[in-house]
Amino acid sequence: MSDNNSSNIDTSTEGLLSHSLVLFGALGDLSLRKLMPTLYQLEHAQLLSDDLKIMAVARSAFNIDELKARIKDTLNQYLGAEQLNSESLSRFLKRLHYCQVDLIQAADYAALKEKLDAWHSRMTFYLATPPSLYSDICQHLHSANAINNECRIVVEKPIGHDLASSKVINDKLALYFDESQIFRIDHYLGKETVQNLIALRFANPLFETQWNNQYIDYVEISVAEDVGIEGRWGYFDKAGQMRDMVQNHLLQLLCMVAMDPPSQLTATSIRDEKVKVLRALKPIDPEKVNKHLVLGQYTDGQFQQQPAPGYLNEADAVTNSGTETFIALRAEIANWRWTGTPFYLRTGKRMASKVTEVIIHFKASNHQIFDPKQASITQNQLVIRLQPYESISLQVLTKEQGIDKQMQLRRDPLHLDFAQTQSQARIPDAYERLLLEALKGNQSLFVRRDEVELAWQWCDQIRQAWHSAELELEDYAAGSNGPKQACNMIETHGHRWYEDC
Ligand code: BG6
Repeated sequence: MSDNNSSNIDTSTEGLLSHSLVLFGALGDLSLRKLMPTLYQLEHAQLLSDDLKIMAVARSAFNIDELKARIKDTLNQYLGAEQLNSESLSRFLKRLHYCQVDLIQAADYAALKEKLDAWHSRMTFYLATPPSLYSDICQHLHSANAINNECRIVVEKPIGHDLASSKVINDKLALYFDESQIFRIDHYLGKETVQNLIALRFANPLFETQWNNQYIDYVEISVAEDVGIEGRWGYFDKAGQMRDMVQNHLLQLLCMVAMDPPSQLTATSIRDEKVKVLRALKPIDPEKVNKHLVLGQYTDGQFQQQPAPGYLNEADAVTNSGTETFIALRAEIANWRWTGTPFYLRTGKRMASKVTEVIIHFKASNHQIFDPKQASITQNQLVIRLQPYESISLQVLTKEQGIDKQMQLRRDPLHLDFAQTQSQARIPDAYERLLLEALKGNQSLFVRRDEVELAWQWCDQIRQAWHSAELELEDYAAGSNGPKQACNMIETHGHRWYEDC
């Protein structure tokens, strides 16, 4: 496939012609909670091509009417009956087809192949299944002769739990699909404000000229979640926040903030630039791991004025788990642009509120003419809020008004609230953009194999370092802002988290 993969998100249906979607795991949680509502929204926005069909694949013995009734219930549940437009809903339900397949039974794929052959269209296979099934599905599709050069495959994280296991999965996919046919989802790349980072950085020379170690003191990427483990204790306990969030979402955000301008807005150019950042990430010095890293686990606390159980008291918990539900770390990018400007990454579960922000802390000027007591506030900050309430805010210094206020400084925001400045009634969910782009064959928003593996390599090294150093888990109460050691860590480097500034 050539790299005419532009990252521009247009709303035309060009490129969608004769591509149909085959959804494996169609009755599973991801499909029902996310993908079906997403496809309905695309339908309602008239972004799906007329001839796009959807083959739902699952193990249950459903007939098509039962499937449609189930999907209708699901849409009612997740979108709300009052949100559903009857015409859009009926158009959407008409696209649905069903094939009963036990995903590990090779023989079951013959029936699927027969149904797909009758469509005469190119296929996008979406594996909304646990990664442990990827291998069987690909192999059986191949044996049934259902894969050709025009097919695409969409896979979800986790791609492995470390570098070695991610290679096994990637090798398996590569046996049946060329890299140009593989779409690895990191849903953060589909978020509106993450896309906006490209516009903000590369369409505004004002920022791009300042976007380096000469002007930026440090960068903070904070992803605080208010949810706890939500019934996924078994999965999460094997992963922890490093594997579940840092290896993918936070590192992708870091790449989008730190990469050099791509020469063009194509998938290859963008992904090449991200890879250069990942290659330049410095391993953490094992001798100094405790100065660069804080791990935490939430204990019993209060959330929204209600008692909230600690991690070890969540349903299905194993009492002696040492898994981190919080991590804060100091990353360094050893390249021309960033040497000397650390990136602090922080993410935790069951924190006080859900906030995802990238904060660029600009340097103060070298020569101060204002009252030295005010020197601490003379730094600009650019706060890019991904969720909730997408916005960009530049903290600027102004003079306190009033003739009695000599030259007293105050910090005020220049604020861009996307809900107010844009005419769109709602900001589309990340999956809407990603599904649409996968159907169009645009890989810009998907993660390439080398990105996944470099990210694992960096995370594996840090995990090894913390295990060798026997780094202890710090407690933080559910519903709080994380362990105080995370503040101590950043302060020892002369910096502060934004909320403490
Ligand atoms: C998922 C993680 O990838 O991202 C979850 O597995 C996490 O543990 C979720 O809660 C966060 O996504 P978002 O879009 O709510 O920030």
